Amino acid sequence: MSTASTLESTFSAETYFATQPPPVSLDQDILGVREFVQRHARTGRKVVLVTSGGTTVPLELNVVRFLDNFSAGTRGATSAEYFLKAGYAVIFMHRQFSLQPFSRHYSHSTHPFLDFLEVEQGTIGTSGSEGAYISVKPSERTQLLEVLAAYKTVQKAGTLHTLNFVTVNDYLWLLRAISQELSVLGRDAMYYLAAAVSDFFLPRQKLSEHKIQSGKGSLHIEMDQVPKILKPLVSDWTRGEGFIVSFKLETDSSLLVPKACAALARYGHQVVIGNDLHTRKHQVIFVSPSPKTSSSLQGNSDEQHFEQVWLRIDPADKNKEIEEDIVAELVVRHRAWAGLRSMT
Ligand code: PMT
Repeated sequence: MSTASTLESTFSAETYFATQPPPVSLDQDILGVREFVQRHARTGRKVVLVTSGGTTVPLELNVVRFLDNFSAGTRGATSAEYFLKAGYAVIFMHRQFSLQPFSRHYSHSTHPFLDFLEVEQGTIGTSGSEGAYISVKPSERTQLLEVLAAYKTVQKAGTLHTLNFVTVNDYLWLLRAISQELSVLGRDAMYYLAAAVSDFFLPRQKLSEHKIQSGKGSLHIEMDQVPKILKPLVSDWTRGEGFIVSFKLETDSSLLVPKACAALARYGHQVVIGNDLHTRKHQVIFVSPSPKTSSSLQGNSDEQHFEQVWLRIDPADKNKEIEEDIVAELVVRHRAWAGLRSMT
């Protein structure tokens, strides 16, 4: 693999954006987001950016192989639906081909669309002619009607704007651009960062142009660290005004609270939602600066300065989604945050 010896192995956000190329569709994507944000700013509607799905790290410029991050996009797509229901306009920034609001109910692997349609023979519409037509299985009709009605309402209201990313580079450029656009809304904007973002990447200057050849024994790759972008997101791109919710995924649940406290102390945002890989669909923990803590938490991750609230649902209840409760809790907190506007 070719290497650029002059390149740093630890990137600040600044060096990252100065050395890594933007995705080709960036300018077009920015225009779409700008129009969406301005339209909703005029009506006073709150806007949430939901990031969803996992980012990839290509190993070659002509990509044959890449590393991927775990996430089907369930958390993001489900939450987006509940934000829409709560009256938010949603910018849904997701990994290409991961789950999306509404269509997620008919995922090809868990609930294939073709399996609930039937071919019938009979009179077609009002024409009186005979032939084959398609009907929906009676057992599927109620849910389909509900999903379709909600989807059509959102389409008519123009409250959902969708963009996609594939690589961690696409994600970082898009996140910066969208949050800068959204920052005009100040405290009326929420940032819900559910995407699973790679911690390591290969800078463009170190990528092999062509497919890495086998036959030379084992492959050794030294990856660089992706810059921690929560810091510039909180203090620069959103000008310290946005309501920012990040997620913390762990497989050892004893790490959730200390890691969440450390992130809040380091980045100074509003909420970390901790989730364990195996229980994430029925329990999460909200960690946030305690209202009783008056002093700045900068660098102080002592757990006593942070409020911890568990949200749990019954794992046996198949009709309940934990995202409904996550979003309800955030809507209340965001309202309080936006209400502080006049006092700051
Ligand atoms: O889609 P599902 O299958 O339902 O799974 C949902 C989920 C488990 C992936 C989701 O709930 C979740 O926990 N997402 C965050 C996982 C993660 O990658 O955490 P992290 O520790 O790498 O990052 C912490 C936070 O900073 C995240 O909000 C991430 O979006 C953000 N981040 C991290 C690094 C970076 N360079 N940029 C970021 O924006």
